[in-house]
Amino acid sequence: MNLDDVRSDLSQILYTEAQIQARVEELAAQVDEDYAGRDPLLVGILNGAVMMMADLSRALTIHCEMDWMAISSYGSGIASSGVVRILKDMNVSVVDRHVLIVEDIVDTGLTLSYLIENLRSRNPASIEVCAGFRKPEAARNHVHVKYLGFDIPSDFVVGYGLDYAGRYRNLKGLGVLSPSVYS
Ligand code: PRP
Repeated sequence: MNLDDVRSDLSQILYTEAQIQARVEELAAQVDEDYAGRDPLLVGILNGAVMMMADLSRALTIHCEMDWMAISSYGSGIASSGVVRILKDMNVSVVDRHVLIVEDIVDTGLTLSYLIENLRSRNPASIEVCAGFRKPEAARNHVHVKYLGFDIPSDFVVGYGLDYAGRYRNLKGLGVLSPSVYS
């Protein structure tokens, strides 16, 4: 789905497909360099990270392995306490592996804080984070994102894996959803 296909649903276009692709390629080049000879284990957080994982992994020139986790935040009330439930755990062990968590977006940062703590307790060799987008509150919560696509405003954004009511994940760019769509 292209931005033009849903242009009337968007109050603003933040990043086009080309801009996102160019940035992801830059991130992949950094990962290539940092992980040379270490075959990172990319851990994608379903569902939103599917696009970022697909593009980042294919832009790498080094070998990598991919695995997935699915988590539930129990809704916004409980999410604010940082409690998340693992719905699907990884298939492979992280012991002594160089883990790179792949996320579409870091919003409050609570999901990531929980995940990092959880994975760290399993004794990986290292853990870093790659995320397509980050909202300001994440920075306030001191979540370290080593490989970041873009800092974005605290608007309701959709596209590139990010949904509203299950829609717009397949949108190639990133846009701000018009309030008329959800109000
Ligand atoms: C999104 C995103 C992150 C999380 C970030 O997932 O993919 O996992 O929220 O939010 P936080 O920084 O405030 O914790 P969501 O729960 O919307 O599920 P989805 O990926 O399936 O859309």
